[in-house]
Amino acid sequence: MKKCLIVYFSQGGTTKKTGEAIAAGFQAEGWATDLVNLNANLNPPSSFDEYDIIGFGAPTYFYKPPFNVTEYIEKLPDLNGKPFFVYILFGTYKGDAGNFIRKTLTEKNGRETGYLTTRGADMFLGYLREGSLFSPDRPNEEDLSIAEKFGKGLANGNYNSSIPKDQAPAFLNKLERLFLTPYLFNHIYTKFFKVNSDLCISCGICKKVCPTCNIEMDEDKKPVWGKDCIGCINCEMKCPTEAITSPFAWPLSKIFLKMNVYKASHDPEIVTVPVKQKNGKLIRL
Ligand SMILES: Cc1cc2nc3c(=O)[nH]c(=O)nc-3n(C[C@H](O)[C@H](O)[C@H](O)COP(=O)(O)O)c2cc1C
Repeated sequence: MKKCLIVYFSQGGTTKKTGEAIAAGFQAEGWATDLVNLNANLNPPSSFDEYDIIGFGAPTYFYKPPFNVTEYIEKLPDLNGKPFFVYILFGTYKGDAGNFIRKTLTEKNGRETGYLTTRGADMFLGYLREGSLFSPDRPNEEDLSIAEKFGKGLANGNYNSSIPKDQAPAFLNKLERLFLTPYLFNHIYTKFFKVNSDLCISCGICKKVCPTCNIEMDEDKKPVWGKDCIGCINCEMKCPTEAITSPFAWPLSKIFLKMNVYKASHDPEIVTVPVKQKNGKLIRL
């Protein structure tokens, strides 16, 4: 029986869901599939010999792949001509997240067979706090059926060898992402993740929801951030007492956030619903 591996990173569940739909397409054609979330498996295997094709799924974070995905892809062994495909989830503007992954896999001697991009509900706290949820309820049934067909096509050898690249992000987004690098997060911003001891109830939710296990609790059971931050700010988002603040509250960040929210909420291609984010909970208004 032929076998497909799909490695994905998913914080909010949309990349996982899309990966499952692609896998269902393979399964419908009689393939076996394995799905692995990067949360649980940071180190790549030394070879993918047991698989006939490998897929990589990631959300766009700051118009590029999340830092942990980049790190994983860079650590992959030589692919020796192995067929691969990539899929990307995005909430507003995908940027060129797919380009990096596709290029790196090709440089590692993988053979590109397919590329899919799909909208996913944008749970970035910066935007939710501004009162906007972009691309709610995506991927929807239609998106998932496209993903399943994508999987079926690949299972049947319908490979596409000349897939266009994603366009580079807009100038302001490029500027924005100059401030959003692993180096800055892990050497500078990490020092500015703060917890208000009066508000913190030491529940440990921040530690639990950190996808890179970057949070430890100190002797007073308050969070301390390490050097593996990917900037998802899930810790801040899920805190039930709003005890955590991050550099995304800095005035410069606010300027970018407001500009992005303005642009996306006036874009007829992007569905927006008004929301309120409070005490770790998201309420649709
Ligand atoms: C920290 C963060 C940064 C994001 N940056 C972008 C972005 O630059 N462009 C975009 O279109 N969506 C962006 N998103 C939205 C996600 O790509 C989208 O919601 C995706 O569906 C999330 O996948 P997941 O549910 O598997 O975690 C961002 C989300 C987060 C949490």
